Amino acid sequence: MIGESQMSEQSNIESILTESRVFEPPQSFNERIGGAYIPSLEAYEELYRRSIDSPNDFWSEVADELDWFEKWNTVCSSGFPDVKWFEGGKTNLCHNCVDRQINMGHGDDIAIIWEGEPYDGAPEIKKLTYSDLHAEVCKCANALKELGVKKGDVVTIYMGMVPELAIAVLACARIGAPHSVIFGGFSSQAIADRVEDAKSTIVITCDGSWRRGSVVPLKDNVDAATQFTELIDTVLVLKRCENDINWQDGRDVWWHDICDRQDEDCQCESMDAEDMLFLLYTSGSTGKPKGIMHTTGGYMVYTYLTSKWVFNLIPGKDHVYWCTADVGWITGHSYIIYGLLPNRVPTLMYEGAPNFPDAARFWDIVERHNVTQFYTAPTAIRAFMKWGDEHPNKHDLSSLKVLGTVGEPINPEAWMWYRKVIGNSECPIVDTWWQTETGGHMLTPLPGATPTTPGSCTRPFFGIDAAVVDDDGNEVGENEGGLLVVRQSWPSTLRGVFGDRDRFIETYFSRVEDMYLAGDSARKDERGNFWIMGRIDDVINVSGHRLGTMEVESSLVSHESVVEAAVVGVPHEIKGTGIAAFCTLASGIEPSDVLKDALRKHVGEEIGAIAKPDILKFTDALPKTRSGKIMRRLLRDVAAGTDSNQDVTTLEDFTVLAKLRDEE
Ligand code: WT7
Repeated sequence: MIGESQMSEQSNIESILTESRVFEPPQSFNERIGGAYIPSLEAYEELYRRSIDSPNDFWSEVADELDWFEKWNTVCSSGFPDVKWFEGGKTNLCHNCVDRQINMGHGDDIAIIWEGEPYDGAPEIKKLTYSDLHAEVCKCANALKELGVKKGDVVTIYMGMVPELAIAVLACARIGAPHSVIFGGFSSQAIADRVEDAKSTIVITCDGSWRRGSVVPLKDNVDAATQFTELIDTVLVLKRCENDINWQDGRDVWWHDICDRQDEDCQCESMDAEDMLFLLYTSGSTGKPKGIMHTTGGYMVYTYLTSKWVFNLIPGKDHVYWCTADVGWITGHSYIIYGLLPNRVPTLMYEGAPNFPDAARFWDIVERHNVTQFYTAPTAIRAFMKWGDEHPNKHDLSSLKVLGTVGEPINPEAWMWYRKVIGNSECPIVDTWWQTETGGHMLTPLPGATPTTPGSCTRPFFGIDAAVVDDDGNEVGENEGGLLVVRQSWPSTLRGVFGDRDRFIETYFSRVEDMYLAGDSARKDERGNFWIMGRIDDVINVSGHRLGTMEVESSLVSHESVVEAAVVGVPHEIKGTGIAAFCTLASGIEPSDVLKDALRKHVGEEIGAIAKPDILKFTDALPKTRSGKIMRRLLRDVAAGTDSNQDVTTLEDFTVLAKLRDEE
């Protein structure tokens, strides 16, 4: 629960506004990493200019580092909204992740290091070489074909963090079947919604997945989803936890039964650069989550280069890269699998929780595997801080060379702690701002080049024409808040919202003409550094995960006891933002703690555990304007317990607010 100790949003914003400490890339970095790709700010600035002035030259040189079955005709042939990159080019991203490495003589290099959660004296570890990965991916691809999957069919993947998750994703890419990965924390209703939207008939899942010593019943959730949708006719099930599951003959197929007997070779489908690679659902301000579409060529080139330069990945230098995200989020797609494998640095996947069996698990992993690049979220860093320095201090973390963060603004205290306690003040921190829609890093330091300041994601990556503007698209002044936009397309721009062109145009390309609207507000300081200030829509960022307040509200009012609900974000010590919900109850329903628990559980079942309100208040009425709009800013104050000097002249019923404040 949110208590006294919660970080106040206000004080965080103030400390960010006054933050002026500058940290140059550590002198030792170049040597420790084995050569910085971009070794100075001058080098960055010169190349950045070139990437903006001559994007076609810049991106064709990068694309030439990868394999294409047929070369493209035009690098960028169309800008917003119907963006097209590398038109005419043919390639396959699975080929570039796996086969290309084998063809270059690196079949025996490690592609994936996997560590399971259970820890009985020692953890279960698997290391897959590129050749191993090739065999497994081909078997899975052949199994999918046997199950009737064809190029263009959407395959839903709902699995835990096991190697077979990466294998399934790559198998889909190999045969040209776009995947739609659903995070294992989502509910059966959420699975059904996504399956229906994507018109997907096959789901790949596991019997269960390990989380903090317990089994998450993934297969049961898929079974339950089939009650909400009739589309699912095939369920491919990996045995992981050996928990009891129900079985439906004719629909359910064991992974080992079908994959093990397949041929270890499967030709890669030749994909047009603009063929869809995957769909990934993310929350918006209205309606159900939207399916963000990414295509093959541009996404491949962009995630390859950002991985290489932002993390300074160098093959053959004993680098081991670890991103702690789940593959169910865009971070896992781009920076565990697709951007990493073409760079030939082993990518580490960890199955479970950061505090199992104890709070030092992550640092134990870093030490045992000699992790060199480590990428995590501010919410995790805040939890580590709270758990205490003794956990990281027990371990030798000297292998670390680059530290990354992603998902939400990082408070300067957490940044400083990360730098000192985890990085021994020797590792540059890359605070990467980007989104599901952008496919890859957009604003980020480069570890050997960019001076960093705690809380700022610094400068645009190459080819990214980012700006802070007003509604007319004019740049606002230094340190003035405005809309964060991108003025030119980049290779991994989203290509659409699946099945909803209007929502695509409306959300990203209507408020400011000819520019991509990110949905964040930001400011740019006197040194050209960007600072993210927050969302401009009704989206909240809970532990680095996006949730629409409307989604949570709809779920609350779908419960028979609730007639009206308003959901707002509230500062939270660990999550960054927590969820506060205000509900008015149907007549005859009495408020109670039992009902609060029931409503939380209901939201968990409708969306997933991450959407459960941290604070839930019952109220006779919600504060509204005379025209009937819920006054969320007032609710935010009530939830945060801050005294507001807010203008309440438009509030319809003053007593509502007083009652809400009193009710604790
Ligand atoms: C939203 C995108 C990109 C992968 C994880 C989230 C916020 C993301 C940062 C950062 C400040 C950040 C923004 C953005 N965000 N990274 N480094 N600093 N804010 O992906 O779920 O698509 O959410 O997360 O508000 O719009 P996502």
